[in-house]
Amino acid sequence: GRTKVVVTRDLGPDVMPLLQERSELDLVVWPENRACDRGWLLEHIPGAGGVLLMLSDKVNEELLDKAGPSLKVVSTMSVGYEHVDLALLAKRNVRLGYTPDVLTDAVADISVMLAFMASRNAKGTTSLVSRGDWPNATWSPFAFCGPQLSLASSPSQTRTLTAGFLGFGRIAQATLRRLLPFGFTHALYSSNPSSTPSPSQDSAYTKDFHPIQSVRRVDYDTLAKESDVVFVLAPGGEKTYHLVNEGFLRKMKKTAVLVNTARGTLVDSDALAKALREGWIWAAGLDVVEGEPNVTPDHPLVKEPRCVVLPHIGSATFETRLGMATCAARNLLGGVLGEGMQAELDLKGRT
Ligand code: GLV
Ligand code: GLV
Repeated sequence: GRTKVVVTRDLGPDVMPLLQERSELDLVVWPENRACDRGWLLEHIPGAGGVLLMLSDKVNEELLDKAGPSLKVVSTMSVGYEHVDLALLAKRNVRLGYTPDVLTDAVADISVMLAFMASRNAKGTTSLVSRGDWPNATWSPFAFCGPQLSLASSPSQTRTLTAGFLGFGRIAQATLRRLLPFGFTHALYSSNPSSTPSPSQDSAYTKDFHPIQSVRRVDYDTLAKESDVVFVLAPGGEKTYHLVNEGFLRKMKKTAVLVNTARGTLVDSDALAKALREGWIWAAGLDVVEGEPNVTPDHPLVKEPRCVVLPHIGSATFETRLGMATCAARNLLGGVLGEGMQAELDLKGRT
């Protein structure tokens, strides 16, 4: 018989045919152009061999229990998997497909964009123009200034520029690559505190990122203290919950910028709002916020004039979303048919 697969969003005319053409599948697609209702998903998942879903669909015991033993694969159209209970998937032998690589450039682009938007007052200044206040804001010597995140044209100067990365995977490295022409002189990173530091890795990185003077793995305190811009680019989940907290923010430079393009849960929102209000740091650029999408104009971070907030659009280019949807569809097919997937997360040791 045919295998039921459930898809929680229409993936569009370029990708849906990959699934529709497969006569061995009984394809069930959420019909509306908004996030799939939980009730609909729970109603349709029983007996499915695979499910393709979004980061807003939680993969937990409730869903897996409803699905039953037929479920072979969960394919998420995201690189992140904070919404997925990995240990439970491992325990039940359900494979997980995700979408790394295809979105690395788009998210690196927006990480750099947010760093510059935040440092150069993009939020306050664009809203000033929208409000009609430009006529009252005649060009003036030091108005709207922010710290400069480049040194390229002044090689003789002794200033340094340090980029810090919480997490140093594909996206972080692509972000650092983009910063090299801006003249960044140093990079610091801290990754999973439980993995072993490797100084030889650092010298390899330092060569990779020429002409940067050094790439070093450091502890969180050093990273907070020495960075001119901190990029949060680690996976979400319990191990990284509130990695950026009040203690971290208090150690940062007053002129530093914080950018989060990973998951909202990595940054303590209340602490960040306080840091901005009291001037412990200069500005922040966020593509993700704890509790999203319930982030409204009265949110303390949205109210901060130097906090640029985007509604989780890091991977939102036509090219990248097409790549993600295609990858997710192929992962679903591979998993259901018991074949290789384009990108499968290794669940070993996640129990
Ligand atoms: C987006 O946040 C993703 O995980 O792909
Ligand atoms: C700025 O617009 C300048 O001309 O310096």
